[in-house]
Amino acid sequence: MQYLINGEKLTAGVCYYPEHWPESLWKEDIGRMLSHGIRFIRIGEFAWSLVEPREGEFNHDFFDRFLGLVRETEMKVIFGTPTATPPAWLTEKYPEVLNADIRGNIFRHGSRRHYNYNSPVYRRKCAEITEVIAARYAKWECIAGWQLDNELNCEVSNFYSEADSAAFRTWLRDRYQTTDALNEAWGTVFWNQTYTSWSEVYVPRYTCNGANNPHQMLDYYRFISDSCRSFAQIQSEIIRKYKKDDDFITTNGLFGHLDNHAFRRQSLSFFTYDSYPNFSNQTGKPVDENGLRDRWWSRKLAETRSVSPHFGIMEQQTGANGWNIWPGVPNPRPGQITLWAMQSVAHGADFISFFRWRTAAFGTEMYWNGILDPSGRDNERLAEVGAFTEILTKISCVAKEHCLADVAILKDYDNVFDSEADAWHSQIEQASMDSLFTVLQKTHTPFDYVYFYEGGISANLHSYRVIFYPHPLIVTPERIRVLEQYVKQGGILILGARAGCKDHTGRCVTKRLPGLFAGLAGADVKEYSFLQPDQPEVLIDWDGEKIPAALFADRLSGEGAGDITGRYVSDYFAGDGAISVNRCADGCVYYYGSAFSDAAVEAFLRRLGVKEPYADVVTVPESVELAVRGPYLFLLNYRRDACSLHFHRPVTDLISGAELSGETALAGYGFIVADMSRPA
Ligand code: GAL
Repeated sequence: MQYLINGEKLTAGVCYYPEHWPESLWKEDIGRMLSHGIRFIRIGEFAWSLVEPREGEFNHDFFDRFLGLVRETEMKVIFGTPTATPPAWLTEKYPEVLNADIRGNIFRHGSRRHYNYNSPVYRRKCAEITEVIAARYAKWECIAGWQLDNELNCEVSNFYSEADSAAFRTWLRDRYQTTDALNEAWGTVFWNQTYTSWSEVYVPRYTCNGANNPHQMLDYYRFISDSCRSFAQIQSEIIRKYKKDDDFITTNGLFGHLDNHAFRRQSLSFFTYDSYPNFSNQTGKPVDENGLRDRWWSRKLAETRSVSPHFGIMEQQTGANGWNIWPGVPNPRPGQITLWAMQSVAHGADFISFFRWRTAAFGTEMYWNGILDPSGRDNERLAEVGAFTEILTKISCVAKEHCLADVAILKDYDNVFDSEADAWHSQIEQASMDSLFTVLQKTHTPFDYVYFYEGGISANLHSYRVIFYPHPLIVTPERIRVLEQYVKQGGILILGARAGCKDHTGRCVTKRLPGLFAGLAGADVKEYSFLQPDQPEVLIDWDGEKIPAALFADRLSGEGAGDITGRYVSDYFAGDGAISVNRCADGCVYYYGSAFSDAAVEAFLRRLGVKEPYADVVTVPESVELAVRGPYLFLLNYRRDACSLHFHRPVTDLISGAELSGETALAGYGFIVADMSRPA
């Protein structure tokens, strides 16, 4: 059985860089980690030159010595392939491996992630180093798993090198066969963009107004996703040849322009995420803009759970986020490291690996605090991590449980990518996604993200009573069929403005709107418009309740098969339909002709009976997060001040074993994990 994420236990790890420290510290470091409950270390992900100091000259001394020492202990190792940081000799000799910006300016050696995925030389060099490392170490007992590269598509997720244009041409030829078909799909007759030969086609380039062809952009994002996946797959296939049966392959991070779901299935045993909730405390926004701050990170964790129902955290924050080029930020306050790590567990993480053991004494990240400061002295953060690993042992029963939810938010990569290329799309998408997340969080209504990805769907739709699919501008007949099945069997599907207005190429359909959704939704959009930002609030009357529309108004004619249940009551379109419902066998489809405001989300949840499903167990202040894994309830207080909860029936505190009932205090930055299934 795989060492990690096996439904048996929750495990702690840490990121370690033996190359940053004198060898004389290694043994003591490993011993101190073990005595603080840390069982896994991740190493190696930037250490290419230690293994291949000069082209073709491989040297195993460093990792032989380090792993030789580790294997005398119980510590297990996750080895990172070092391909996020090509050596200087490589980029100097083969500059074609470098990435560039949209103007063609080359990214030079001196930072990281400056390579492109499509250079044949870089692919070959990465395959070689991966093969050398895997062949040497995969069978060592202390090796438990592999990390591919580091944070694929982080920092830069656009690629504009010559190698990328060459690969893009091949990718497009496979897809369209002829330039005529490409011209048709991209609508190149517009602004005279017609291509007469493949050699005229490039990845998007610098244009005078920044407005590149939107259909090209959509294909470009799909292409980057495929490039990243095939780049990583080269490594996963090599590692699979050498690794022990129980050892895993993973990667860390969840970044843009990548179909993470297809990637996970293609190359990974499970996904890991790097969780730095402090980022959301330093966004420069007013601190309480949405009242969520670091709690907002739960959105990323829910996204990760969609990719991998049980996942790991490869880098869990322990200190201030600090690059030497950024202004200073505070360390987590006492209790916050634990709170943030529990946030990860509450959302499905079974492995928590902290970043990093000791703060680097040099380099860009010398202010990115790890557990220890560069002196390595014992400190409060180490004590907190040690105490946290004891908690993990006490709540290990959680590992076999899945997060539970009645509500899902459906997404797909076509629309994720399209909303990047299309400002109308991104405006309504972001507003709706923010409101959905905020209201679900604040009303303590657990939910999942579900994705259509290339080749499938990430969860069984039938396990959700209600599915929001906010703005699927692009939809295919296959996806319509899946949704129809869901609705026929009793599901409730909620669509928002602009649904169905585009085809797979991102071109607007010439049918009546909502295009391919017209049959399923039973709606007919006769007119549509953005709302004027300076006009008074536009209200929708939904059976007597007034709900503010947000950003956009699709005006429904009433000619569809569904019933109009909500009408605009403001402005020149007062009286037009805003909400329709189409009953279909046991289920129904709502068409909501706007972006979702907080009030609209709340109204849907309440009316459909899915709001706050644990209200009979506990009353929780809005500021506390509630999450559920099987029978286990997680309550997390992100504020400095203590607050009070009220349990309506007794539950058992999983850590102390005590019964909790009635009025119960929750400390500032405190948490409770309670078993709802058995009284103490
Ligand atoms: C992550 C990355 C690490 C380290 C850390 C702190 O994004 O994977 O290598 O850079 O952030 O910046």
